Amino acid sequence: MSKISVGILGATGMVGQTLVRLLEDHPWFEVTELAASDRSAGMNYERVMKDRWNVSSQIPEYARPLKVKECTPKLNCDIVLSALDSGVAKEIEENFAKSGYAVSSNAKNHRMDPDIPLLIPEINADHVDLIKKQQKKRGWAGFIVTDPNCSTIHMCLALKPLFDRFGLEKVFVTTMQALSGAGYPGVSSMDIVDNVIPFINDEEDKVETEPNKIFGTLTESGIKAAVMKISAQCNRVAVKHGHTECVSVKLSKKADEEEVIDAFESFTTDRSLNLPSSPLHPVVYLRQDNRPQPKLDVNEGKGMVSVVGRLRKCNILDYKFVILGHNLVRGAAGAAILNAELLKSRGYLE
Ligand SMILES: NC(=O)c1ccc[n+]([C@@H]2O[C@H](COP(=O)([O-])OP(=O)(O)OC[C@H]3O[C@@H](n4cnc5c(N)ncnc54)[C@H](OP(=O)(O)O)[C@@H]3O)[C@@H](O)[C@H]2O)c1
Repeated sequence: MSKISVGILGATGMVGQTLVRLLEDHPWFEVTELAASDRSAGMNYERVMKDRWNVSSQIPEYARPLKVKECTPKLNCDIVLSALDSGVAKEIEENFAKSGYAVSSNAKNHRMDPDIPLLIPEINADHVDLIKKQQKKRGWAGFIVTDPNCSTIHMCLALKPLFDRFGLEKVFVTTMQALSGAGYPGVSSMDIVDNVIPFINDEEDKVETEPNKIFGTLTESGIKAAVMKISAQCNRVAVKHGHTECVSVKLSKKADEEEVIDAFESFTTDRSLNLPSSPLHPVVYLRQDNRPQPKLDVNEGKGMVSVVGRLRKCNILDYKFVILGHNLVRGAAGAAILNAELLKSRGYLE
């Protein structure tokens, strides 16, 4: 099979670098183009990234000689994966979609648009068919699909088996989010060392609204949203990679502790999806009482799973537990790649 050519928009940022790393030796995709702002364009990737490469010991060999281009829709590729700053993503991604490119985006700008899929393939792969509605409505030759906010993705993966088996009415979540979630160079060390910052711009709104679209039902007239009540408090902490989330849930049906743990442990990806990056078990439940921890568990399942632990009764809702997930991998770059794989398997990249 000849590989599908991929361009990375925002290839120099934290998520862009992670895309470069994860796409080395991908079975379906080959990176042919790297693009970023005019500050980076014109030089080869190795030179641009000399003091900025952050996500593994070496820049992959294939990417070093590639010349970084500007983000204009003249790139030689079939699909673009966008890791653009949200301040510029809207216009650039729309230009690519208008010009016939498939766009798999990490940016927040289009996530809640009614005609744009907000995908987690293990939960709502069927929402990908919103693309037809999008192209008809907007007259675009290409299209945009999005992945959710990094905290939303991990929370939704952990909630999925509970939603299916018991029903979910209320979710209360407090996040402790890693520094790499703020991009590069991100939060100044003087601000974060010895500190917790109880504010991340727009984050609580994303975590409270995106899940009901993701768990919604695709109908003739679009997505009928789910109706969970969600309250979120989001904090930045001095951890390099990995968002931790303390969650309490109210279930629709009664369940004992072992049934809830069994729901986490027996959650498997539908193998008919057949996507190279999807883990067989998207949720890994750890029974040790002091886990999960970012330092020990962030790379579980190559960063593509949500790690859950500390299930116990909640005195206000029904149960509480802790979720940990890699914000750059399953929370961003890995999610955009998985969405691109879904597009290919559903015939949208032909
Ligand atoms: N970090 C995470 O954990 C995470 C998780 C989920 C979603 N996201 C989302 O993913 C996107 C990227 O995040 P990040 O953390 O990688 O941010 P970042 O490190 O700040 O990188 C931003 C990227 O956007 C490019 N860019 C900025 N202005 C541009 C312009 N005018 N034209 C073209 N390119 C421009 C930058 O290129 P230059 O280097 O040339 O300036 C860089 O490649 C954001 O929308 C973010 O919200 C991030």
